[in-house]
Amino acid sequence: MQLFNTYTKYDINLVSGEGITLSDAEGKEYKDFYGGHGVISIGHSHPHYLFRLENQLKCLGFYSNVVENKLQDQLAEKLGELSGYTDYNLFLCNSGAEANENALKLAAFHTGKSKVIAIKGAFHGRTGGALAVTDNIKLASSYNAKHNVVFIEMNDAAALKVELEKGDVAAFIIEGIQGVNGVVIPETKFLKQAEKLCKEYKALLILDEIQSGYGRTGKFFAHQHANIKADITTTAKGMGNGFPLAGVLIHPKLEGKAGLLGTTFGGNHLACAAGIAVLEVIKEENLIDNAAKVGQYLKDEIKLLVGDEAVRAEGLMIGIDLDNKAEVKSSLLFDKSYFTGASGDKTLRLLPPLTVTMADAKAFISDFSSVIKKQ
Ligand SMILES: Cc1ncc(COP(=O)(O)O)c(C=O)c1O
Repeated sequence: MQLFNTYTKYDINLVSGEGITLSDAEGKEYKDFYGGHGVISIGHSHPHYLFRLENQLKCLGFYSNVVENKLQDQLAEKLGELSGYTDYNLFLCNSGAEANENALKLAAFHTGKSKVIAIKGAFHGRTGGALAVTDNIKLASSYNAKHNVVFIEMNDAAALKVELEKGDVAAFIIEGIQGVNGVVIPETKFLKQAEKLCKEYKALLILDEIQSGYGRTGKFFAHQHANIKADITTTAKGMGNGFPLAGVLIHPKLEGKAGLLGTTFGGNHLACAAGIAVLEVIKEENLIDNAAKVGQYLKDEIKLLVGDEAVRAEGLMIGIDLDNKAEVKSSLLFDKSYFTGASGDKTLRLLPPLTVTMADAKAFISDFSSVIKKQ
């Protein structure tokens, strides 16, 4: 059997990682300024993460949700504490798309309505409902065409109101910061208006924090920069530091009942051990403050190199517009040994682990500077 052909891949065989350093089979080292799409939050092979996972595996790797799992309670407790959503309830699942599917379904259950408002340029995942609220026609098949979704421009509160006024809306879904669309940051004023309008028209406000959450932007969730609260927040990526783990944070007004949601693997023992370790390290090592500090340094320095207009960033979620993005990304990888990411035609995306140091950042700026001068 061969692999189904669906990814464009580099011919690099990564075999180990430690902190922000990755090594390939020939022993060549790379610096990870992308975290495999923003997944690596506390660094590769963090000792506390290994400790928790190894211990858990020796005890019990998996059992399904047919039994009590105290690790789920511990994870929920710690997540509530760090995120500030202490009185919310947590549903655990396995991927970002699955978290969004469940969020959208919950909104429809709760409101009895099915229409969803989403934002142009949004990316919420590749499964049925998540793809329906994703604004990229190229990813959809005819199978995905049946959902009732309207897209509005980012920051257009008037358009949001027009749609909500129609009275048939279950939810408005928005990323804390759009990642795949090139690090597009919603205006604080718009988020505040959205929170108010959703309340007024009894639609649920869903914040997709799958990429922008878990401390990456210098707050636990990006929407907390705007001082708003979501009815439902979805999270994945950094939550398990590479172990498939996702969550839906649910306002207490949404009642659960047996059978409403479900998953075989979601919230299993090993996944919870990974999730708990991540939260412990984020807290213990003050990684949210580190993300704010190192992120601000990177943003300021990159702006000096490419101009203010070309940079959109909050903490360690950084987008840099470059006419020759592909060449710069390739040179960073093959000449300077940095993994970075890309969005759209022209944006280079940086999503390093939250453990990245000022020294790592300074080294990156020096290498980035020489790469863009050479191009
Ligand atoms: C904002 C956002 N939502 C949802 C997803 C989908 O997550 P997953 O690939 O884990 O299904 C992603 C993935 O990139 C994302 O960036």
